[in-house]
Amino acid sequence: EKGTYEHYMLKEVDEQPAVMRRLVKEYTNEQGELVVDSTITERLNMSDRVYIVACGTSWHAGWVGKQLIEQLAGVPVEVHVASEFAYNMPLISEKPFFIFISQSGETADSRQVLVKVNELGYDSMTMTNVAGSTLSREAIHTMLLHAGPEIAVASTKAYTAQIATLAILAKAAGMASAKVEAEQFDLVHELGLVAAGMERLVGEKDMISSLVKEKLSETRNAFYIGRGLDYFVSMEAALKLKEISYIQAEGFAAGELKHGTIALIEEGTPVIGVITEEETGAHTRGNLKEVESRGASTLVVSMEGLEREGDGIVLPKVHSLLTPLVSVVPIQLIAYYASLQRGLDVDKPRNLAKSVTVE
Ligand code: F6R
Repeated sequence: EKGTYEHYMLKEVDEQPAVMRRLVKEYTNEQGELVVDSTITERLNMSDRVYIVACGTSWHAGWVGKQLIEQLAGVPVEVHVASEFAYNMPLISEKPFFIFISQSGETADSRQVLVKVNELGYDSMTMTNVAGSTLSREAIHTMLLHAGPEIAVASTKAYTAQIATLAILAKAAGMASAKVEAEQFDLVHELGLVAAGMERLVGEKDMISSLVKEKLSETRNAFYIGRGLDYFVSMEAALKLKEISYIQAEGFAAGELKHGTIALIEEGTPVIGVITEEETGAHTRGNLKEVESRGASTLVVSMEGLEREGDGIVLPKVHSLLTPLVSVVPIQLIAYYASLQRGLDVDKPRNLAKSVTVE
């Protein structure tokens, strides 16, 4: 039920702090320790390589998952678009472990890969919001996202639930193989900080709405740039903006912009920089300067501690591996207000269906 909300999307954006807390509850025991089905963590740790397969927003979450699993569990990860994997299968390692990420659990492109993976006899897991969905039934293991039904076509709370669930999996696998990085990462505490941070951000709707009015009301195109995790969030940011506001948008690795795409920057082109990493933040700021001097209208989303005067949105500080969970919130709201201000159908954008059951 939408309740007092005008759109499901806004309701689902607002639910994200509660989803983070629910996930912590679902995946902890009475002692407050994280618990993940040990057959899953064993299989993941026994594998020599993890293959994440997904589409769209779930694929973007997969990129963040790669960082989490590599950093905390120490197992190398490849991330693949399902529709490509199905027909262009890469060389598979000796002991692969497949993770299918799918909000609906019904996406045909992902299912097609799972069918092949099953034929080849590989171990697999589906991370989904829908218990009993096709992908959940056909994979060997399942982890649920516990995000509650997601109705709006644009995925929001499922994306953050996917990242949090991937973090839970990565931490549990790292603990099971005694990785210091996992032992030193107090995920339950950190997800609590994330939930509080998200709460603050969803309270900044009026400010974000006016930023959108100022920066995106006239434009036909826009760019998001970032490095590392901020790059992955930039890809998701562009998809969100495209699908509901119909503004042509691209998410870019900030350093790659100058290798061609900078030719598209004109007077007034919006370029939004996402900066949550200390190490790469200065470089992204340099890239923003480059486009500003070519006329771009820039907006910076930065993390507390890294902010500079003039930054449009300052994010609450969270653990460096979990920054997408907070940086994506204003980005979802930017897309929401861009759509709303254009008078478009926020929850049901043209040409799109909630689950894509054709290849
Ligand atoms: C974007 C969006 C799509 C889905 C994609 C995969 O907001 O919703 O990109 O993420 O179609 O869907 P699932 O996760 O259900 O497999």
